[in-house]
Formats: sequence, C-alpha cells, structure tokens
Amino acid sequence: MTEEKKTKSKGISRRDFLKDAGLLVGGTAIGSTVLLAACGGDAETETVTSTKTVTSTAAGGTTTVTKTEQVGTATETVTQSVPSYVCPYDGQEFDSLSELKAHIEAEHTGESTSTLSTVKLTVNGKEYEVVTKPHWPLRDVLRNQLGITSVKDMCTGYGACGSCSVIMNDRPILSCMMLAIECDGADIITCEGISDSGDPLIEAYALNACMQCGFCTPGFVVTARALLNHNPNPTVDEINEALSGNLCRCDTYPAHVLAIQEVAGQ
Ligand code: FES
Ligand code: FES
Repeated sequence: MTEEKKTKSKGISRRDFLKDAGLLVGGTAIGSTVLLAACGGDAETETVTSTKTVTSTAAGGTTTVTKTEQVGTATETVTQSVPSYVCPYDGQEFDSLSELKAHIEAEHTGESTSTLSTVKLTVNGKEYEVVTKPHWPLRDVLRNQLGITSVKDMCTGYGACGSCSVIMNDRPILSCMMLAIECDGADIITCEGISDSGDPLIEAYALNACMQCGFCTPGFVVTARALLNHNPNPTVDEINEALSGNLCRCDTYPAHVLAIQEVAGQ
C-alpha cells in the first residue's frame, strides 16, 4: 500500500466520503494537459518538483488524483484514476485485489480470501469496484464498503421490513435479499442519491412529518420514488400497495400517502 493511500484512508471520514466521492473505475490515466510551456528556466540548473493532490476519493472504488509536475520549463497537470480496494473488515484501502487479500490473510486470520472476488457497481451515478464473497448481501457491501448508511437492517435480513430498499436497474429491490455477486454491472440508486438529486419527495416527507424515529424512512422514500417513476399519478390504493412491503414501528403510514400524493404529477 502506498504512503498516500495510508494517509487518505485515515484522513477521510465516511461523512466526507458521502459528500465528496466522485470517481471512475479503470485505473488508467484519463487525461493529460500541458498548462504552461515557458517559465524562463536555465537548462543547466533544471529543477524538478512534483506535488500530488487527492481531489476526490471514494472507498471501494477509485481515487481521482491530480498531479502537478514542474520539469524544467514546463508544468504539467495529469489526472489519473487510481483503483482502490477497501478491506471490508477495517476499511483500509489498497491498490490491488492481491494486496487486499494479503492484508486480510495477515491481519484478519480466520477470514478466507479464496472466494473473494470483485464486482462493479454504479451507485448514485458513481462507479465502484467492490470486493465480495459469494454469500455477502448487497446491503452489507453498500453499508460496510461504500458507507451508504441509508440502507438499513430492521429485520436482520429476512426480507420482511423494506428498510434496506434500493432501486436497482430502475426497479425497487430488497438489498438484503440480493447477493452482491449477482449485481455486477448494476445501476443502483439509494436514498442518498434521491436526496442529492433535489427530489421534491424529500421536502414532502419532511413537511408531512413522515418520520418519528426515522429508521424506516429511507426505505419508504426509495419505494415511493420507484413507484412515482413508473406511475406518476398513483391512487391511494396503488400507494398503499406499493408501500405494503415497508414496515414502520412508529406507525407513520398515513403520512407517507399524503407526501406521495403531494409530489404526484410533478
Ligand atoms: S433488512 Fe431487508 S427487508 Fe428487512
Ligand atoms: S419512523 Fe420509526 S420505524 Fe418508521
């Protein structure tokens, strides 16, 4: 693991990540621009300096790095995407799957790496490459590796509460019932993505007091958005049917209908 990766891993919180993540999968240079061609340098006393700035980061995906180099009379800025692999047990980032496997074998004895594989996901418009085992649910990968904390677990993964709902390939699914390894190439929208898009559902949910403890709310919002995507003007019966898989222990059910009706047709 490079020194830069170690520093980055410790210095950026999950909250920072959720605000700032922006990345590309691939791990190859994606752009090169010569910004300055003449600065009057002396060829005999050529100076070489190099600075590297992390401009955006994301756990489990790639890090976009802007590197500015001054070599003699020219300054060159190179933007690269550098892949990173996140340890699902302690959050440390690595440059390759083999480095991650070596780390797990050394630091997390008892955790087998023989079945570890990678899966590409697009989550809220950003591309990631995450590691998974064949039995890990999508919910755990989203929460533990990508820090997507709106994906809840109210029924211990029995598919009974809807709190882990996400939109996958334009359809609402229970992420606790979907194996991450089955999701290679999937396009996933979570409540964070719905909120970041400025969706009027968020304000309608707030104004209609759709939450008490709020634990179930992201799952309801995701289901409501999926409903409205396919049926922009649902009836009360259609709303209740769509939300029938989402449970709320605080009994907020009537408020959800009001919020969805408020947004219907927009
Ligand atoms: S945690 Fe997925 S349905 Fe309850
Ligand atoms: S608001 Fe508390 S579980 Fe729904």
